[in-house]
Amino acid sequence: MLKKIAELASNCNRIVVLTGAGVSAESGVPTFRGKEGVWANFKPEELASLEGFMANTEIVWEWYNWRRDLMEKVLPNAGHLAITQLEKLSKKFTLITQNVDGLHKIAKTQNILELHGNISRNKCVDCNLIVDKKIIIDPKNIPCCKKCGGKIRPDIVWFGEMLDETIISQAYVDSEKAELFFSIGTSAVVHPAASLPITAKENGAILVEINLEETPITPIADYHIFGKSGEILPQIVEMIEEKKAI
Ligand code: OAD
Ligand code: ZN
Repeated sequence: MLKKIAELASNCNRIVVLTGAGVSAESGVPTFRGKEGVWANFKPEELASLEGFMANTEIVWEWYNWRRDLMEKVLPNAGHLAITQLEKLSKKFTLITQNVDGLHKIAKTQNILELHGNISRNKCVDCNLIVDKKIIIDPKNIPCCKKCGGKIRPDIVWFGEMLDETIISQAYVDSEKAELFFSIGTSAVVHPAASLPITAKENGAILVEINLEETPITPIADYHIFGKSGEILPQIVEMIEEKKAI
């Protein structure tokens, strides 16, 4: 099956990849759902929502400081690197990620749409002004926005919030045009991200899913590969490279 996918990738013009937390699992970043997931210990709305932030600002910042610290220590894995290589081998390529860990950027993928923001950035809770990346947050003494005095929060899309209009629109446009669409390491339950593979499929793309388990999009996938992205993706990329070398 991997050979067939490599063949399809070699022969098509537009590839879109959607990634979720599973792609970073092999780097040591916990996923959101499942036994080991972050949500197993917390109620999402307590930490990742505006209401949660306003009610428990100190706890929310402690949690994000912990995640930032963790993410500074991790490195891209073979899956991230294979995606970068896939981009180099493709005519048109878009990576749409739900991850906020920035590992795709560190792995040097170029055309990335970060749907849910980036954990290293901050912004003002009131006026949305983006604040210096390097700012250190003391949960007991949260800095305020220079422009309006609002509290500083992580620049991440929380539950109940809208995605950046420009980014999600571009994600839909690229998904509609995709000839081959990979959905990798995502539980495909959080919308609108989860509707992108469906949009791609409705517009004629071949849909490939790589995951450790079945998801709501498995029934519409043309190919479902059970396995770790860090193991499967390098194999696919190697097969494409072999084809190109012929
Ligand atoms: P989830 O934690 O919901 O799902 C991770 C998926 O990755 C699961 O389906 C796992 O089976 C799969 N998986 C785990 N390890 C894997 C591996 N090594 N290779 C391949 N697959 C693997 O994460 P997301 O789908 O990314 O939003 O969650 C979507 C959004 O939910 C997140 O972006 C987050 C949360 O609300 C925000 O932070 C805004
Ligand atoms: Zn402000």
